Amino acid sequence: MKREVTVQDGLRQMPIRPVYLVSCGSERTNNILSVGMFALFSGKPCLVGVGIAPSRHSYDLIRKSREFVVNVIDEKLVDAVRICGENSGRDSDKFRLANLTAEKGVKVDAPLIKESPVNIECKIVNEVETGDHVWFIGEVLAAHVRDEYKWKDGLLFKWIGENGFYHKVGEKIGEY
Ligand SMILES: Cc1cc2nc3c(=O)[nH]c(=O)nc-3n(C[C@H](O)[C@H](O)[C@H](O)COP(=O)(O)O)c2cc1C
Repeated sequence: MKREVTVQDGLRQMPIRPVYLVSCGSERTNNILSVGMFALFSGKPCLVGVGIAPSRHSYDLIRKSREFVVNVIDEKLVDAVRICGENSGRDSDKFRLANLTAEKGVKVDAPLIKESPVNIECKIVNEVETGDHVWFIGEVLAAHVRDEYKWKDGLLFKWIGENGFYHKVGEKIGEY
């Protein structure tokens, strides 16, 4: 048996998904925000997208520079996700606030987060307005992965109403 539920309750039952730190701006305007809206749009060329609300300070920075970096989080970066998701770069230097280090990339001026195990450098090739967010679609031009990192060390996040929780990746249950 199934019952019809509200749209919000239905969406709440969607599987748990990753959350990322997206860094943007350049040297003097460096900023970071937490992002759950991430999607892979194409394999070849490799295109990924992030959904950013126009009210965010990062929105203005990304619009201007046409670049962003997707940084994977692990257990050590949970506090940073909270800090970067609750404060605006308009009022504070989030690298300082979250105790993170900006590193230079190889293809973009947007900063990489040194403490993140995986950094994906992107240059924007398309921009799509969708309701209350704009999807910035970027071509992945460079990627950096820490030697000892395993993809299952990346963290997932689940919204529950206004709040949420972090989760580790679960067990393997089949081959493809
Ligand atoms: C777990 C989590 C996920 C979030 N996902 C998004 C997202 O996908 N898109 C977005 O625009 N804001 C998202 N936010 C909110 C922004 O990170 C938050 O508004 C941030 O303070 C914006 O910073 P800025 O003004 O410096 O850009 C998320 C926040 C959290 C805590």
